[in-house]
Amino acid sequence: MMKAKISLLKEKIEQLTVANAEELEQARIKYLSKKGEITALFEEFKSVPNADKRLVGQLLNELKDIAQTKIHSLRKSFTVTRGVDTDFDLTRTAEPIPVGTRHPVSQVQNEIIEIFSRIGFVIAEGPEIEDDWNVFGALNFPPEHPARDMQDTFFIEKNPDVLLRTHTSSVQTRVMTTQKPPIRVLCPGRVYRNEAISYRAHCFFHQIEGLYIDRNVSFADLKQVLLYFAKEMFGGETQIRLRPSYFPFTEPSAEMDISCNLCGGQGCQFCKHTGWVEILGCGMVDPDVLRNCGIDPEIYSGFAFGLGIERITNLKFQVKDLRMFSENDLRFLEQFVSV
Ligand code: DAH
Repeated sequence: MMKAKISLLKEKIEQLTVANAEELEQARIKYLSKKGEITALFEEFKSVPNADKRLVGQLLNELKDIAQTKIHSLRKSFTVTRGVDTDFDLTRTAEPIPVGTRHPVSQVQNEIIEIFSRIGFVIAEGPEIEDDWNVFGALNFPPEHPARDMQDTFFIEKNPDVLLRTHTSSVQTRVMTTQKPPIRVLCPGRVYRNEAISYRAHCFFHQIEGLYIDRNVSFADLKQVLLYFAKEMFGGETQIRLRPSYFPFTEPSAEMDISCNLCGGQGCQFCKHTGWVEILGCGMVDPDVLRNCGIDPEIYSGFAFGLGIERITNLKFQVKDLRMFSENDLRFLEQFVSV
């Protein structure tokens, strides 16, 4: 009686096929679970006459083995054919996926762009690998200017010069030679200088150049635009100060300081106890530069400014070592939660 049942079940199990994981689980329950048919046979085994116990027990254990192996191999076949390991516990909570943060320099760059775009500036970009004309020549750098020296600039080739741009002012040249005024552009980008790397200098960093060319653009316009920027960026109480300076491509030229936003102008280590920190260079575009780029200085005038993004980022976040910006250390980057 038992023997017949066992061999029937054995046959059934050997021929068992299932179409999916659910059917497989049903088969497992049907044969092997606590209430399964094989478990029931073990129950029934208790009443088998002692004389038969040995043989029947053997057959029964064999049946159980066959069933377990069959279920296991069916499960494996799913893994192969469907590419999914059905041994996965789908009820487990998922591993948390870490969300990246935006780089502080990118955050500040975006903020600056946002501020200037509100007053009509649009983005212009240029290449990092440049020629002498766009970086120096058109911008009135005299032939013997130190920036043209290998000590200051990375040259890729000499004569004709191919070099890594040392400032985003090169994009000014490109925009002015290809567009007609009115021009109102903001040029963000990476620049390179042949500097020894230390906590306060790096051989590459980021700048944003601003350029505004139209009829009747004056120094007062420049000052108002920069004041607007300073207040938007550092808060409404921020003051600016323009100091006379020199750049080959602007006349007059100035450097702009803002009241130190760390000590509120009282004097601290960051502003070297002056209450002011320098943040950018600016000026009225030199008529010769306009002419070099095919714009008539009798009709048009304009202003330009250039700022270092890392510098502004430092003011905002007080990063003491410039090298942190390019080391990709997650312990540093994770502190700047993106907004
Ligand atoms: N190109 C200058 C630099 O890298 C920054 C600068 C100064 C840009 C004055 C300007 C400007 O457009 O008018 O130091």
